[in-house]
Amino acid sequence: MDKIANPFSPNAGSRPPELAGRDSAFEDIRVFLGRLPLRRSVQSILYTGLRGVGKTVLLNEILHMAEARGDVLPIYLEASENRPLGEMLASPLRMALLKINRAKGTGEKVRRSLAALRNFLGTIKVKFGDIGIELEPATGVADSGDLQFDLIELLSAVAEAAAEKSMGVVLLMDEVQYVSAGEFGALVMAMHRMQQRALPLAMIGAGLPILPGLAGEAKSYAERLFTYPVVGALSREASVLAIRRPFEDAGIHITDEAAEIVFRRSGGYPYFIQEWGYQLWNFIEREPITGNDVKMVDGIVTEQLDGNFFRVRMERLTPSEKSFLQTMASFDGPDIRMSDIATRLGISQKALGPRRSALIKRGMVYSPSHGLVAFTVPLFNEFLRRNPA
Ligand SMILES: Nc1ncnc2c1ncn2[C@@H]1O[C@H](COP(=O)(O)OP(=O)(O)OP(=O)(O)O)[C@@H](O)[C@H]1O
Ligand SMILES: [Mg+2]
Repeated sequence: MDKIANPFSPNAGSRPPELAGRDSAFEDIRVFLGRLPLRRSVQSILYTGLRGVGKTVLLNEILHMAEARGDVLPIYLEASENRPLGEMLASPLRMALLKINRAKGTGEKVRRSLAALRNFLGTIKVKFGDIGIELEPATGVADSGDLQFDLIELLSAVAEAAAEKSMGVVLLMDEVQYVSAGEFGALVMAMHRMQQRALPLAMIGAGLPILPGLAGEAKSYAERLFTYPVVGALSREASVLAIRRPFEDAGIHITDEAAEIVFRRSGGYPYFIQEWGYQLWNFIEREPITGNDVKMVDGIVTEQLDGNFFRVRMERLTPSEKSFLQTMASFDGPDIRMSDIATRLGISQKALGPRRSALIKRGMVYSPSHGLVAFTVPLFNEFLRRNPA
């Protein structure tokens, strides 16, 4: 088929031609976004899931849903390793405030929150030449230098400015696992304050199934203030829709048998489904697409996934981290015992600790519960077995 017209999208964050299996998530979001500007209480959300399941796509859809409403201002940011939260928030918050300022209706509070932002920037040593609006002298808000207090004051000021114009603010944050435990704790406490004061600001985050190792007060709040829906592999029905609909839209039939093989070979993981669709589209010369066609592209799909999805993740790892992963892959099942890895490598579990932490920090593995590790990349064990060190 014409490669230029290929609708499939095996790419990080690209909207798929058929966004399958997420209807209930969208219904929850519709309610969430509707309640927010009315200052009715909402629970913040943290979507967790493995690599390539569609977390970024979901957040982008939420961004568009918020934008389409007009009364909910989305603040979008992607956390990255080693970048402080305050620094990441500064610029998108400023843009949001300038938008609130331009919204219809009078509002004095926006000035106050811009002043708070300016103070906050002082504490994190980030400067904007011009904050974008004339300001009175600093007011002693959000300038303590303690992120927990300053974030509460800053976000409260932003939420008050939005409330004055009957708007809500949703903080959309991707790759939440890169936010440090202390920073996440500060965010949790800020969301707690929003809820107590019925302020129209809440958060929707997405990240790997490694929640920052929260402790104490922040943890008990986080459990009540957030819901943690899992974004997972697609069901058989949704997988079949994701592969079939884009072909059918182009007038190409795909047999039940062929769709079933794609479902089984991909495990229902969205990224893999897109790769299958993409390669099938390029390969076929006539319809319908049969089970035999699917078998014919198997080798190309595997090669593409190895090159584009799996191998890149190994590049930055040290030899000892790689051998940890290879050893993990030599066991069956998603959750592997640390003690088994240690035994097979012939070293103590304690000595393995730093490698485990480094791999968690890089987002390669996570700990589903005490003493266990699992890959964050679906089917990574199969890749490692195909490609022994
Ligand atoms: N519901 C869906 N149906 C079909 N394809 C989807 C769906 N959601 C996402 N995809 C496809 O899956 C791939 C991965 O999506 P996305 O980048 O959002 O995953 P992710 O969970 O953010 O991954 P990562 O953890 O690596 O950032 C993309 O190619 C996207 O087009
Ligand atoms: Mg993503």
